[in-house]
This record gives sequence, structure tokens and C-alpha cells, in this order.
Amino acid sequence: MIYPDFHTRAFETDEERRAAANLPAATRQSMIKNVLYPYEKFVEISNKIMKFHRPVEGGEPDTGWIAGLLGEYRSGKTFILQNFARQFPPRLTDNGFEHDVVYVQARQDWDSLELGKQIYMMTGVPAVPRLTIASMNSKAARRLIECKTKLLIIDDAHCLFGAAGKRRAVYASLIKYLVDQANACNVLLAGPASIESPMEADLQMKGRGGFPRYRVESFDPKTPEGRNKFRIFLHGVDQRLPFRQLSDLAAKRYLPDLLEMTDGSLGLAMNIVIAAGYEAINDDSACIMPHHLRSAAEDRLPSGKTFQPFAEVQAQ
Ligand SMILES: Nc1ncnc2c1ncn2[C@@H]1O[C@H](COP(=O)(O)OP(=O)(O)OP(=O)(O)O)[C@@H](O)[C@H]1O
Ligand SMILES: [Mg+2]
Repeated sequence: MIYPDFHTRAFETDEERRAAANLPAATRQSMIKNVLYPYEKFVEISNKIMKFHRPVEGGEPDTGWIAGLLGEYRSGKTFILQNFARQFPPRLTDNGFEHDVVYVQARQDWDSLELGKQIYMMTGVPAVPRLTIASMNSKAARRLIECKTKLLIIDDAHCLFGAAGKRRAVYASLIKYLVDQANACNVLLAGPASIESPMEADLQMKGRGGFPRYRVESFDPKTPEGRNKFRIFLHGVDQRLPFRQLSDLAAKRYLPDLLEMTDGSLGLAMNIVIAAGYEAINDDSACIMPHHLRSAAEDRLPSGKTFQPFAEVQAQ
């Protein structure tokens, strides 16, 4: 799996910022696209996932449990998971590669064999044998045991649990087999909160008692605390942008329009910041200016909205 080249390092001084601003356009573009600020909730959830995987410091990875990472569309789940998984690259041993953590991203267009096939592919087997569903599932499970995989992360799990009856049963049966019978690994399922009950029903988790769920939420625009955290997030992003100057994204004057456009969703805010950042590079601007935010936001105005984003800021 090739993860995005996350850019996490803040530029602390004017000199560091100047150096970053002088990098080639393609490098700056990629830094903006892949900027990652480990905000409070990000760190908290990453730590919880680490605890799920390795509950005892200095101990062994745990097996046999299922957990959920729940959060709405564009709330930052994939960034958390991919940033976690990339800390565990495959390791070459005398018995071949070991894959401590395997990350797969489910898709709507999968057929029933695909979860098994993806497990093969993500553990470095490019040519997957033609097999019946039952053998594919048993062999995929065996493959994970062979690779000593202790954590299987399935992102966009709603594509599994929202699937039609038979497919969904096949996916659930592989997951159950991995966790219950084989006790091979832990499984972390990520998706919107709406899949919580189908997941519980399919995996018969009620009786198991242990189904830890970690929730990623948007910043609540209605509370001062939520708005404050949103601004802290924006400032963290700002410190990582490759411009000569800070763009002051967390400024009070930007906040009302950013909230109006995004309702506190960091993914929607980043859509605007990233597009505005690209334009600022094109303009050879010292930082993202109000008119960059304005045009990025205007292009993304939901249909029916007539409000003019960042208009007043620009007039100042
Ligand atoms: N920690 C972060 N720092 C900076 N930007 C982030 C961070 N987390 C997420 N983003 C931005 O938000 C966008 C959406 O995040 P992500 O894809 O992780 O959300 P998701 O919950 O997986 O969404 P989906 O439901 O669409 O799969 C990312 O493309 C990225 O630009
Ligand atoms: Mg995602």
C-alpha cells in the first residue's frame, strides 16, 4: 500500500518558512495537498488505536477483538488510519515479509470475493488464485496468519455492511472467522456512524460485550469550545503551509464564513484551504490571501446558497 506523503512538520521560524516557499512548485503543491496537523482528537484517537493493537506496553499485539472508528463523511478517518498504518511497514524476516498491520479500503463495486483478494494483494501477493468463496476466505485468513498480521484495518466498512444480503454475509463471515475461530488478529472497521447497527447485527457483537468505538466528530460550530478547536486546527494547518508568511487562517475575521461554508467539518475546510493554497502558489503570493479563499469558496458554494463568502474580509 502506498500511503500519501503526509507533511506533518510545522515551519517554526521565518527562515524555515522562506526556505519552504522557495521549494519547487510541485513539492509545495504536494505539501499543501498532504498537510497533516495532528490536532487533539487526532492524537487521542491514534493513541486509542495503538492501545487496541498493543494494549500492554512492552507486551504483545492483541487478537480476537473488533473495534469501530466512526465518523461522518470527510471527518478525517482515513488520515488517522493511513497515518497509523504507515508506521508499520512490511518487515523482511527469514520467512518472508511480515505485515504487522494491514490496511484495506472497501469499495461499493466489490464482489463477495474481493475482501479476501484484497487481503492477498495488500500482503504482497499480486496474482490471486481463482478460488470459490469459501476457499478464498480460508486462504486469505491463512495468509494473514502467515504474515503475522495482528491488526486488519478495513476503511469505508459501510461498503461491506451496506452491501446486499449475500455479499455482506460473506464479508462478515471472513471477519468473524479471523477474530473468533482463528483468533488471528484484531479488526478495526471504519465508516459513518450509520453502520454501527448493521455491524453489530452481522458480527453478533452484542453478546461479545467488547466492541470499543472511537468517534471522530466535526468541530461543533455552536459552542465556543468547538469554534476554538476549529481555530486551533486551522492554525496548525497554517503553520505547515509552505509560504513565506502565515496566512492567518485562524483569524476571527475568517471564522464566520469558514463555519458557514463547512459547518465545522475539517474535510470541507481543507477543500477550501487546499484550493486557495494552489492559487496562492500560482500568484507567487507570500501567503493565502482573502481573495484566494473567496474564489475557492465561491467555486464550492452548495447549490441554492446565495451568500458571498469572504466578501467582507476582502473589503477591509
Ligand atoms: N489531521 C489533518 N490535518 C489536515 N488535514 C486533514 C487532517 N485530517 C483530514 N484532513 C483533510 O480532510 C480531508 C478529509 O479527511 P479524510 O479523507 O481522512 O476523511 P474521511 O473521514 O476518511 O472521509 P470519507 O468519509 O470521505 O472517507 C482530507 O483529504 C484532508 O485534506
Ligand atoms: Mg475515508
